[in-house]
Amino acid sequence: MKNRQLRPNVYSVGAIDWDARLFDRLIPLPDGTSYNAYIVLGSEKTALIDTVDPAKTAVLLNNIVKIGVDKLDYVIAHHGEQDHSGSLSDVLLMYPDAKIVTNPRCKQMLMDLLDIDDEKFVTVDDGQTLSLGDKTLQFVYTPWVHWPETMSTYVPEDKVLFSCDFFGAHLATSSLFVDDEAAVYEAAKRYYAEIMMPFRKQINANLAKLDKLDIEVIAPSHGPAYDKPAFIIDAYKDWVSDSVKNKVVVPYVSMHGSTGEMVSHFVEALMDRDIMVKQFELSTVDIGKLAIELVDAASIVIGSPTVLAGAHPAAAYAAFMANALRPKAKFASIIGSFGWGGKTVEQLTGLMSNLKVELLEPVLVKGQPKEAAFVAIDRLADEILAKHKEAGIVN
Ligand code: FEO
Repeated sequence: MKNRQLRPNVYSVGAIDWDARLFDRLIPLPDGTSYNAYIVLGSEKTALIDTVDPAKTAVLLNNIVKIGVDKLDYVIAHHGEQDHSGSLSDVLLMYPDAKIVTNPRCKQMLMDLLDIDDEKFVTVDDGQTLSLGDKTLQFVYTPWVHWPETMSTYVPEDKVLFSCDFFGAHLATSSLFVDDEAAVYEAAKRYYAEIMMPFRKQINANLAKLDKLDIEVIAPSHGPAYDKPAFIIDAYKDWVSDSVKNKVVVPYVSMHGSTGEMVSHFVEALMDRDIMVKQFELSTVDIGKLAIELVDAASIVIGSPTVLAGAHPAAAYAAFMANALRPKAKFASIIGSFGWGGKTVEQLTGLMSNLKVELLEPVLVKGQPKEAAFVAIDRLADEILAKHKEAGIVN
């Protein structure tokens, strides 16, 4: 494969992982991913920006050699997580004179995670610059995207921002730059939802910081680079904002059909009231798709039967995930059927204690839902519409 040039003397040397289907043994990767790394060739010094997942070390090293890098001065480590730092030791074996440039917090993480000696590091402050000759690396601390130590690097001469996970998308593509905005938007929103959403306040502060830079290209560590950076910056500004949509997310599970009947009635009741609704069956759900819809939904209503005197474990998992992701929903409720009794509502609400939601009166019915249950579900749909109107969510 020929060298992939991002800018003059700036090369993409990472690895495309077309076949990856699960990240962190948790996150589905329907379209694979990439571990991006970049070589910046200055007139005097050469820097490698990040490395790749250990499984792809050989690809990285081969790509660096192909460019003809015989001396590497710096490896910029933006982030301690191993999908970007995992090849560091092998890079240092090949280029023993190279120094790892990072912030003090990331340095400590790399020493803990990878057992790299203290003497291999050079630490930099927020805003500090490092000259490569005719190119400059300017370090910008961008914490909590999605770990506390994360940072980015700006090259003013090329107006490129290397942002690591920030603005990333799990998407394997042969295109160096975004060529299908719809596909990248979906993948980037999924990525934001799965790991960035809990830190939206900090991300908002990072976006404000980047406003001061003249950026023509954003080169993240997953997915294609953005040659129209406003596309992803504007999307992020929307996702981290406080505004929510007139939308209800309904994750549910049903064992013998009763909770399913309630959910079907509820979904139609919401549609009758012109409320957007997204229904997810939890035993088969792609949690990434559920997470995407949580980014901007005004309400979450979990459907769960009562089993073993409590919430169905699949519903508990959804509540636990929502609690961890901390979406900006304003209202929540629970619907479901029970056989003789249990603590379903207490368990599910207890699992969502991080959410700043108003709990609307749940609808729990004994056995198969009958007329009174459907009336109660209609009452919940009415209440949601009224709450959305009160909150200014419905135009
Ligand atoms: Fe792509 Fe947080 O690592």
